[in-house]
Amino acid sequence: MYDSFEKLKADCMKCEKCGLCKTRTNLVFGVGNENAEVMFVGEGPGRNEDLQGEPFVGKGGQLLDKYLEYIDLDRHKNIYIANMVKCRPPENRDPSEEEQDCCIGWLREQTRLIRPKIIVCLGRISAKRLIGRDFLVTKEHGVFKEKGGILFMGTYHPAALLRNPNNKAPALEDFISLREKIWEVCDHTYDVHR
Ligand code: URA
Repeated sequence: MYDSFEKLKADCMKCEKCGLCKTRTNLVFGVGNENAEVMFVGEGPGRNEDLQGEPFVGKGGQLLDKYLEYIDLDRHKNIYIANMVKCRPPENRDPSEEEQDCCIGWLREQTRLIRPKIIVCLGRISAKRLIGRDFLVTKEHGVFKEKGGILFMGTYHPAALLRNPNNKAPALEDFISLREKIWEVCDHTYDVHR
């Protein structure tokens, strides 16, 4: 257990717990405010993220930033963004259960130190792992579920929205629900914009 984010990050950056370390350019630890009340969890770095060392910086990330902006959230100000696995799975395949098992300790520590009130799962990989094995994005997106004192909500992965733009409108509804939930349960997320 860590008592500082700096120490956690320093150790994580050296991680060699699974084979993904062998093919990474950069480990992608996370980005944002360490005191955020709202955390987003994606799947794992893609090519651009691996090259730049920051989550969601490709086309999907640009779409995510638009949704965030629509509800006054900003990756550098009032939220934190991380992934289930910190290193890029080759060819952008899904991270395996074993790779997720190896990596989830880092995410747990990030969550323990950040102490978010809300966690938004971006896509099925993180939703299945963090909300429930049977989670179905098509049926359960936008629904908040309390677990261990944290409200979890799953929504579409931005890359999936690029592939299937029909889901962009329901995804936007999820972000609007998120804004309402933030008003309801968060204390300072929107303060930075006042
Ligand atoms: N997809 C993810 O799930 N995470 C990223 O950081 C980039 C793409």
